[in-house]
Amino acid sequence: MNLVEFESVSKHYRLGEVEVSALDQVDFTVCEGDFVALTGPSGSGKTTMLNLIGCLDYASSGEIRVLGQPVSQLEDKALDQLRSRTYGIIFQNFNLVPVLTALENVALPLHLHRLPAVEMDRRARAALEAVGLTRFADFRPDQLSGGQRQRVAVARALVTEPKLILADEPTASLDSASALSLVELMKKLNREQRATFVFSTHDQRLLAHVDRVVELRDGRLTAAAETAQSAGAKRAAPATGDSEVA
Ligand SMILES: Nc1ncnc2c1ncn2[C@@H]1O[C@H](COP(=O)(O)OP(=O)(O)OP(=O)(O)O)[C@@H](O)[C@H]1O
Ligand SMILES: [Mg+2]
Repeated sequence: MNLVEFESVSKHYRLGEVEVSALDQVDFTVCEGDFVALTGPSGSGKTTMLNLIGCLDYASSGEIRVLGQPVSQLEDKALDQLRSRTYGIIFQNFNLVPVLTALENVALPLHLHRLPAVEMDRRARAALEAVGLTRFADFRPDQLSGGQRQRVAVARALVTEPKLILADEPTASLDSASALSLVELMKKLNREQRATFVFSTHDQRLLAHVDRVVELRDGRLTAAAETAQSAGAKRAAPATGDSEVA
């Protein structure tokens, strides 16, 4: 099933007299179960693309469909509902609430879903277990390492069982060992819980662990990205010739 479809999507920003083209006629699909890394140099359009995938911004032209629905035709309220039902988001700087424990941070998004307290607790504990942090349930963020904090953020993104988890440079604040371990954790959740991930990264070393690498240059997908995309769609070869499917 296609979760998100881009058809010739462009995004322009106006800065005074100058128009900046952040994305230029991009065709792109995210299917259920995908594990996609967006890569490319600074300014190539990765954040812009993630914001459009997550319906946090509108396209200047072209069409974006989420779960088959054209986003541009949705009213604000329907869009809010679509966002809260569809996405989990992992932030670069974790965005944990400092005065809450790991468990309470993970449970936060469930308050919007009006679940009974017992069920919230059960789901938050299960999400913490999935990221290997059961032992740290009662620790506050300042008592955890950077890698552990980001794992809490992954658990918080997972806890509502979203269709798609988005992350803009989730490893940027981590050292390289923690960055690799975070990508391996996301890959494991992708395999075992069929969680779909789209994340951006600058780190070339992480790309060997990703099935599908989508590369942007100046707001366009590169030829390599298109190869990766068709490979991803067929669930076949790895994204680049020299990497293995993890
Ligand atoms: N709000 C904005 N107003 C004007 N221009 C913008 C805005 N946001 C992004 N841009 C421009 O759009 C282009 C793409 O930016 P974007 O943030 O998507 O790149 P990126 O690939 O995420 O870069 P980085 O790796 O540095 O995070 C850049 O030229 C940027 O200057
Ligand atoms: Mg960015």
